[in-house]
Amino acid sequence: MKVLVTGGTGAIGKFLLPLLVENRHEVVALTRSASKAGQLEESGVSAIIVDPLDKPGLVAAVRRAEPEAIIHQLSALTGAGNFRKFDQEFALTNRFRTEVTDTLLAAGRTIGTRRLIAQSYCGWPYAHKGGPAKTEDDPLDPKPPESFTKTLAAIRYLEDKVRSTTFLEVLALRYGMFYGPGTAIGKGGEMVRMVKKRRFPVFGGGGGVWSFIHLLDAARATVAAISRGAPGIYNIVDDEPAKVATWLPALAKAVEAKPPYKIPYWLGEIMIGKEGMPIMTQVRGGSNAKAKRELNWTPVYPSWRIGFVDGLE
Ligand SMILES: NC(=O)c1ccc[n+]([C@@H]2O[C@H](COP(=O)([O-])OP(=O)(O)OC[C@H]3O[C@@H](n4cnc5c(N)ncnc54)[C@H](OP(=O)(O)O)[C@@H]3O)[C@@H](O)[C@H]2O)c1
Repeated sequence: MKVLVTGGTGAIGKFLLPLLVENRHEVVALTRSASKAGQLEESGVSAIIVDPLDKPGLVAAVRRAEPEAIIHQLSALTGAGNFRKFDQEFALTNRFRTEVTDTLLAAGRTIGTRRLIAQSYCGWPYAHKGGPAKTEDDPLDPKPPESFTKTLAAIRYLEDKVRSTTFLEVLALRYGMFYGPGTAIGKGGEMVRMVKKRRFPVFGGGGGVWSFIHLLDAARATVAAISRGAPGIYNIVDDEPAKVATWLPALAKAVEAKPPYKIPYWLGEIMIGKEGMPIMTQVRGGSNAKAKRELNWTPVYPSWRIGFVDGLE
């Protein structure tokens, strides 16, 4: 199948593009950079140089590629991590999720693209109540912290498009927290660096539940979603949502760091803000039952317990 990928030079792309090629898809990736275009071409991927925020340029690129499927993996998150400025840090990513998705859909429509797969997130967007592993039908947070409102609105916008678009099939993959090479939880990554320096403590008891996904499994689910599964929303997470108080000491051990410090709630509010504390103490993870059932996908790393030890390099 002819597949167009945006954001293919990023962290997930490093796994996704080779897997698409291996599965005999004809792959076209968009990039802004001539040097990255050269690298893509060397790995068997056709490249088109375009800035995705240049709307006419993006439309022309899609029309030139004539893809049957579009995989939209753009984000601009390098350096993200300040919960007080979350919306500021996600501003470009939010534009990719809204404006750029709209442009891709409109362009795809003109050439008969069959399916578009977009990137969403599984974790903090869910309402912070009830059980630890949310399904795709569970409600999103009705009242996020002020600094998260625009980012949640962009996610809602994208997912509303998934539900309302009829002229082509749209799927949103709510990936859990990525880990693996090239991510913050990978060899040399920002979070690993902080854990090693004991600068990532367990805040307020660490009751927040996180869902993780290794990049390889995220890529495998994405390839599956090109041809399987009804349009809709899918959690792409591993089998073991876990409290911060559980996974963080295990990550520290896996990277041969000392155990994380424990910081009380009140001090946490000062250190990472009132906006950050729900991420550490209240958020919920996701269930992957739908993705397993409908995409016929199972993770190679069923738990972060294995992946943090074997999958960071
Ligand atoms: N679910 C998750 O946990 C999740 C999801 C996404 C990202 N992340 C994390 O975020 C970090 C960075 O991820 P990443 O490498 O995939 O993404 P990224 O560095 O944010 O960018 C991905 C691609 O988007 C394009 N891009 C970036 N900034 C752009 C801009 N200003 N304008 C136009 N295009 C732009 C770039 O393509 P070109 O340079 O080729 O044009 C880039 O290769 C990693 O730690 C990753 O784990 C996490």
